[in-house]
Order: sequence, then structure tokens, then C-alpha cells
Amino acid sequence: MVEIDMNRVDGIIDRYEGERGVLIQMLLDLQSEFNWIPKEAIARISERMRIPKSQIYRIASFYKAMSLNPVGRHLIQVCLGTACQVRGAPKIMDRVKESLGIEEGETTPDMRFTLRRVNCLGCCAMGPVVVVDGDYHGRVTPSGVKDILQRYK
Ligand code: FES
Repeated sequence: MVEIDMNRVDGIIDRYEGERGVLIQMLLDLQSEFNWIPKEAIARISERMRIPKSQIYRIASFYKAMSLNPVGRHLIQVCLGTACQVRGAPKIMDRVKESLGIEEGETTPDMRFTLRRVNCLGCCAMGPVVVVDGDYHGRVTPSGVKDILQRYK
């Protein structure tokens, strides 16, 4: 479970309190502060600004720049396309999950990593492939996973 610092949420709402038509700007500020928009923040905006939660969710899910799911500082993508699978990608995915203590699509509680699976990154000859923040790591072995993760603080 990710813990939300509500003082930071209140600080953002304070900037706009009493103003009208500022919901999108407020949500963008939250997105840039937390890297996502926590449901606790939506509840607080709704309560303090007297805006229905449904309206806030509608806007937050409409804009691609906003995420309603936690996103860590580093995004790890493990390729599970056919070529990478044949070269052992499932074992790599298992090792990443085990090292971070999360499942696919989840974010570590310290917000360091978000883990996603992808299907072919177009560099099958390098498989199994793991991409972290856009850095490609090829021919990854289960024992090499730890080394890769350590490079991203
Ligand atoms: S299957 Fe992994 S890069 Fe193509």
C-alpha cells in the first residue's frame, strides 16, 4: 500500500482554493507532484472544493497525462514476446517480481519501481530484453536482474 502525504495534497489545493475552473490545473499539479493521482487526493479535492468525485474521476481518466494508478520513479518493462519467452523471459519476470515483491502492473510501496510486461520490443535478437526508463538491457539472465535493478535508485 502506498502512503500519501496529505500535507502535499492540501498544499496544492491551497494554491487554488476559492478559484473557479481550476480542477484540471489542480489535477496536473498533483500528477507532477506524485507522478499519479491518488484516490485520497481526489476525495480531499471533492471535500474541500465541493466538486463531485465522479466529475474529478471523469477528468482524470480522460487526460492521458494523468494516471489514476501509482507509477514509480522507474518503469521496468519485461518483454514476454515469443522470441524472448523462448530465451527464458518468464524466468526473468519471476526474478524481477521476486526481487521487488510486486506483481505485473504494480508499483513498489516506496514508489521506486513500476513493473509492466510488454509483447515484443522489436529487438528479439537481444532477448530476453528488459527496458528500464528507456534503457535497453539485452540477453538478461536471472542472476543479472539484481545488477540491473541496483542501477536505478
Ligand atoms: S519478443 Fe522480446 S523483443 Fe521481440
